[in-house]
Amino acid sequence: MFITFEGIDGSGKSTQARLLAEALTGLGRDVLRTREPGGSPGAEEIRALVLQGDPDRWSAKTEILLFTAARRDHLERTIEPALAAGKVVVCDRFADSTRMYQGLSRGDLRALVDDLHRLMIGREPDLTFLIDIDPAVGLSRAKGRQGHEERFEDMGLAMQARMRDGFLTLAQEFSNRFKVIEGDRAPEAVAAEVLALTLAALQARA
Ligand SMILES: Nc1ncnc2c1ncn2[C@@H]1O[C@H](COP(=O)(O)OP(=O)(O)OP(=O)(O)O)[C@@H](O)[C@H]1O
Ligand SMILES: [Mg+2]
Repeated sequence: MFITFEGIDGSGKSTQARLLAEALTGLGRDVLRTREPGGSPGAEEIRALVLQGDPDRWSAKTEILLFTAARRDHLERTIEPALAAGKVVVCDRFADSTRMYQGLSRGDLRALVDDLHRLMIGREPDLTFLIDIDPAVGLSRAKGRQGHEERFEDMGLAMQARMRDGFLTLAQEFSNRFKVIEGDRAPEAVAAEVLALTLAALQARA
């Protein structure tokens, strides 16, 4: 089963991906935890290109190509082999993030993102957790961290609010695989709901 975590900056995706992977491992499942952009050696190199440096480093369209190239490598080298080996793959961000950040934030490029996805990726997760959170809470959490990967960090509250609405709309569009989770709770409470939904989905597939 291929599980992804989505949501705005600071919503708790990385925290929840880690907690879910730990919980499933503790239950004896073979788990691979990975992330985007990145998740394979080549895609991690592209990660540095898209997350570091000047915000205007790439045009919107070039950026979509870089994210798609990274995703293709990640899919071929990391995700598909793990799924073929029977592992549960837990991925921090995937194509839904590109639909939002590259498809929405710099003009309406969603159709281009979807076309490239169909041509080059052609696969959706089995289960996607949207960690939904007030943009102000997410922003204050995200600002608490320091790093070099800040190309998208200075989007500001208005853009964060647009992204949140976009993710909620996406969850309706792909309602078969999305679960919307209230993220403004203790991490353990969020993790318990995520684990329960995951175990139910695993059981339904068994
Ligand atoms: N439920 C929670 N309550 C309070 N703080 C939290 C919660 N979940 C995560 N945090 C903290 O908020 C910060 C952001 O969390 P995390 O890195 O998991 O978010 P993220 O969605 O992965 O962010 P980004 O999109 O920037 O990668 C971290 O410092 C984390 O410890
Ligand atoms: Mg994260």
